[in-house]
Amino acid sequence: MAGSSFGTIFKVTTFGESHGIGLGAIVDGCPAGLPIDEEIIQQYLNLRKPGQTKYSTPRKEQDNIRILSGVFEGKTTGTPILLLAENETQRSQDYSEIASYYRPGHADYTFDEKYGFRDYRGGGRSSGRETLGRVAAGAIAIQFLKSLGIEICAYTKSIGTVSCQKYDYITYLTQDNLETETVLFDRISKQGLQELRSDKLASPLYMPDPKASLLAEEELAASMENKDSLGGIIECVVSGMPAGIGEPVFDKLDANLAKAMLSIGAVKGFELGAGFAVAESKGSENNDAFVPINGTIRKVTNHAGGILGGISDGSDIVFRTAIKPTPSIFSEQSTVNKNGDAVSVEIKGRHDPVIVPRAVVVVEAMTALTIADALLVNMHSKLDGITKFYNN
Ligand SMILES: Cc1cc2nc3c(=O)[nH]c(=O)nc-3n(C[C@H](O)[C@H](O)[C@H](O)COP(=O)(O)O)c2cc1C
Repeated sequence: MAGSSFGTIFKVTTFGESHGIGLGAIVDGCPAGLPIDEEIIQQYLNLRKPGQTKYSTPRKEQDNIRILSGVFEGKTTGTPILLLAENETQRSQDYSEIASYYRPGHADYTFDEKYGFRDYRGGGRSSGRETLGRVAAGAIAIQFLKSLGIEICAYTKSIGTVSCQKYDYITYLTQDNLETETVLFDRISKQGLQELRSDKLASPLYMPDPKASLLAEEELAASMENKDSLGGIIECVVSGMPAGIGEPVFDKLDANLAKAMLSIGAVKGFELGAGFAVAESKGSENNDAFVPINGTIRKVTNHAGGILGGISDGSDIVFRTAIKPTPSIFSEQSTVNKNGDAVSVEIKGRHDPVIVPRAVVVVEAMTALTIADALLVNMHSKLDGITKFYNN
């Protein structure tokens, strides 16, 4: 299987299947000397862990992470970091039926067409469990970014038809350190980000709007009653981002973020800043005016979502991903079996009634991996920087 690695310098390879011995990641290219707090990695994994609320799969896994290499006396050594969590509660018999038919909306059919053979237990490599390795590796990238003053926060923007009203990147971005009368909307204050984080964690759906969270829970309960599933939108904010990061052609920062997001199972859409609304906007409305503020160049608005020409512009990066409803639903569905016969199926096993809350931390992890890599790739962009480094 090709394509299990992501990144150019800060490179991550994930491995493992849903019902195999274990899953994890190898991180190569992380600079030496980064203090690594294993507890922080575990905290991020716990946000993704199954069985935490009634809105996630009842599969109970500890997801205890072990670092097998690349960290010595609490710091990275610059060598590959191997992160491993063992599977503990496989119930592969629940999935034996799936071997014989193709679940609508899942990857069973395409895997068989491609490989002619698949680990059907829990979806094997196409399971949401694959994201465990991404989150463990992402937690290392998050610690690297934090040391540079860059912070990431993703949250549930909507579930089904219920949308979070309290936080909206256009209305929420606040005035920041202004000595002029110009109102700037391009930066979330540190306090704002902390509020967003704690409001998000107060909801079992990671939806930082108590009213919307309750309504979404009601909609989810009704959907579960009908043996159905729901989708939704995750919004992500990167704050403290310096200008000038990202490569201008194929490795545009927005292109790499889009790839990172669309590589997560069930993600079906990506939009940056004003997103798809730009199609109905006028240039005069959509352009973000530049203004000089205390010797720096800032933007009055942030429709661009913090990226121009594939390169960060120093504003917060703001984007959204659309997550489809969980494909494995318990109601009766029509499909085809391996012999090509039409069959009616009722899927068994343990499944998330909605993927969105569990994917929030996966979005943060993939964002961190993308930004960490872009920062390291950027190191050679100016001769000045190279001479300063080698002449020291
Ligand atoms: C965190 C997470 C949890 C998921 N949980 C489930 C699940 O319980 N049941 C299921 O059928 N799909 C689940 N998925 C989605 C499937 O992995 C995904 O839909 C499938 O691989 C097909 O890929 P595609 O939707 O990207 O086309 C989950 C995905 C993620 C990221």
